[in-house]
Amino acid sequence: MDAPVHAAYNQWTQFEEFPRFMEGVEEVRQLDDRHNHWRTKIGGVWREFDTEQRGSVRFERLDDTHTRVELTMDVEPSGMAERGADASAPARRAMFGVAARGHAVCGPRTGRRWRRRSVGPSPARGAFRCVPVPRDGGETRRQATGDRRNVMTEIRPATTTDSGAPVESDEHSLTVGPGGPVLLQDAYLIEQMAQFNRERIPERQPHAKGSGAFGNFEVTHDVSAYTRAAVFQPGTRTDLVVRFSTVAGERGSPDTWRDPRGFAVKLYTSEGNYDMVGNNTPVFFIKDPMKFQHFIRSQKRRADNNLRDHDMQWDFWTLSPESAHQVTWLMGDRGIPRTWRHMNGYSSHTYMWINADGERFWVKYHFRTDQGIEFFTQHEADQMAAVDTDYHTRDLFEHIRDGEWPSWTLHVQVMPYQDAAGYRFNPFDLTKVWPHGDYPLIPVGRMTLDRNPTDNHAEIEQAAFQPNNLVPGIGPSPDRMLLARLFSYGDAHRHRIGANYQQLPVNAPVVDVHTYSKDGAMAYRKATDPVYAPNSKGGPAADTARYGTPPGWAADGEITRTAYVSHPEDDDWGQPGTLIREVMDDAARDRLVDNVVGHLLNGVSEPVLERAFAYWSRIDESTGKRIADGVRAKSQEKDPKATDQGNPARRSMQHKA
Ligand code: HEM
Repeated sequence: MDAPVHAAYNQWTQFEEFPRFMEGVEEVRQLDDRHNHWRTKIGGVWREFDTEQRGSVRFERLDDTHTRVELTMDVEPSGMAERGADASAPARRAMFGVAARGHAVCGPRTGRRWRRRSVGPSPARGAFRCVPVPRDGGETRRQATGDRRNVMTEIRPATTTDSGAPVESDEHSLTVGPGGPVLLQDAYLIEQMAQFNRERIPERQPHAKGSGAFGNFEVTHDVSAYTRAAVFQPGTRTDLVVRFSTVAGERGSPDTWRDPRGFAVKLYTSEGNYDMVGNNTPVFFIKDPMKFQHFIRSQKRRADNNLRDHDMQWDFWTLSPESAHQVTWLMGDRGIPRTWRHMNGYSSHTYMWINADGERFWVKYHFRTDQGIEFFTQHEADQMAAVDTDYHTRDLFEHIRDGEWPSWTLHVQVMPYQDAAGYRFNPFDLTKVWPHGDYPLIPVGRMTLDRNPTDNHAEIEQAAFQPNNLVPGIGPSPDRMLLARLFSYGDAHRHRIGANYQQLPVNAPVVDVHTYSKDGAMAYRKATDPVYAPNSKGGPAADTARYGTPPGWAADGEITRTAYVSHPEDDDWGQPGTLIREVMDDAARDRLVDNVVGHLLNGVSEPVLERAFAYWSRIDESTGKRIADGVRAKSQEKDPKATDQGNPARRSMQHKA
C-alpha cells in the first residue's frame, strides 16, 4: 500500500488532525461496495489501498450520494503499530493522536443527527464510532460479534427482516437440502416477495409522471400591505418541497411530451402547510369543474385500443371553445419546456389575500424562472423522447446534485377587492389572464431548490399537494374550478396513499398538530384523550377570536346550473388572438402553425378537422388559414414529419407503413 491516507468526505474534516492526514491527497474514490477498497489520487497518480488490511479505519456508505460515511478507528497503539506497517509515520501518528486525545466529533450531516458511540472492550481508551440517531430519538442497534477486531471493523449493519430480526442469508432460500424444495416457513423469502408485490401505489390520476426536490422560499420584498400570512412577511424563510409533472401521461411516459407542466409547491410554514398547486401556464382549458374529468379522459387513452388519440383531443377542444387560450399556449413554445428549470409556474387561479387589518385583495401568482425561459421544438422533443424518457427528471436531479440550484422569483398581481365586479374580464375565469398593464407584477421573494430526495417514493411519490392547504391571510376566490379542487385533492390522497397520508414526513407540517382526527390505517401520530370537542378536559379549542373570520365574499342568488356571468370583454377568442398577434414573434408563430399542423395530421378526422380549422380561424384568421392550408397540403402523407425532421428512421417507417 502506497497511500496511507483516506477519504475526503465531510465528516473527516471535523477531525483536528484532518489537514495533516490528507496532505497531498487530491481525490478519493470507493472501488467496490464492500467498503474496504479505495483508490486515492496523490500527485496526479491513482493508488489503491485496502482499509481492511490496514485494520485501522472503516468506511460505511450509508446512501448512494456518498455524503454520509461512517468512520471508526482503532485506538490500540500496539494494534496500530502491528497492522499499520504500510502506513507512513505521519499518518500513523495522526490517527493515533486523534483517537487518543479524543478530538474527533460526530458532526451534523444533512437531515440526520449523529452521536459518538464507544466500541470495543476499552471504551475508556477512546474507541468510538459515529452512528446516526434514529428519527424517533432511540438508539441505533448494531451487532457486535464479540471478537475485538471484528467490533472495530465490522460496522456494516446486518440485514434484518422488516421486524428487525437478523436474517441468515441475503442469497439463499430455505430448502430441504441443496436440491430440495423451497419451504413455506422461509418467512424472510415470503416477506421479500410480498413486500415487492406491494411496492407500487396507485399513480396519480392526472399528473402521474413527475419528480421534485426540496428547497426554501425567502421573502425579499414587503407585501404585508396585502397579506398577513407569516410565510410572506419580510425576511421570512420557509422550507418547501416542489413537484413538477406532465398532466396526461402515465408514470413511465416521456418527460418531453407536449403537455402543460404541473408546478406544485408545499411550503412548511409556521402557520401550517401552504400548498400552491399550479401549472406552467397562467390559464387552463376549461372553467367549470364539471368538465374536468371529461377533459382529462379526452387527453388520456381510448377505451378500445388503449391509445392516445388526437381525434378525441380535438373533438373535446373544438366543442369547448373556452379551451382556445390554453390550447394556444400548449401548441406554442411553452407546450414543451426545455427543462423544468426553464419554465415559469403560475397559480393560474385567482386567490384572496387578507392583510392584518382584514382588507381583502385578489391575487395571481407568477413564479418566474431565474434560469430564463427555454423550450424544445417538437422535433427536439420527439428525439429526446426517443433517447431519454426521463430527461427532465434527470436534469433537475443532476443540477441540484452538482450544486447548480435552480431558482424562481415570485411575483404577484394584486387586484383591490372591489375592482373585481367591474373589471373588463371576469377575474375568476381560469381561461383569462389579467394583462400586466392592468395589474403589474409585484415582487415577493425567491424560491430555490437545493436538495434532492434520497427516496423518491417516500418523498415525492407520496407527496400530497392540495389546494385547500391554505393558511391565515390566504383564501380561495369564487373561481369554481378552484373551489372544486379544494375537495378533489384530499379525496385523491386518501385513495392513493391512505387515510393518514398527512402524517408521512413529507406531508407533515413543521408545526404541532392538535387535531381530533384519529385512527385509520397506518396511524402513526398517537391520539390522546379527550377525543371529542367541546370538552372540559383540556383538549384543543379553536381560537375563534383570532382566526374566526373565514376568507369569504358576498354571495347571493338562486341555486342554478349556469355559466359565469360575462364581463364586457369576456370571450373565448380575444386573449388567445392577442397572444398570437402581440406576444409571439414571426418565428414563434411559424412554430405554432407547424405544431398544430403536425398534431392535426396525426389521426384527426372529419368533422373534427373542419371544426379545428374554424376554431383557429376564430382565434386568428391568418393563423387559421395557414393551419388549414398546411394540413391539406400534407394530408396524403403517411408520416408528414418524416421529411421535415430529416430523420432516416422515420422515412423508412413511412415506406413500411
Ligand atoms: C376541477 C379542476 C381540477 C381537478 C378536479 C383536479 C384534480 C386533480 C387530481 C385528482 C390530481 C391528482 C392528485 C394526486 O393524486 O396526488 C391532480 C393533480 C394535479 N393538479 Fe389538478 N385538478 C384540477 C385542475 C387543476 C388546475 C387548474 C391546475 C393548475 C392550475 C392543476 C394542477 C395540478 C397539479 C400540479 C397536480 C399534480 C400535483 C403533484 O405534483 O402531486 N389541477 N389534480
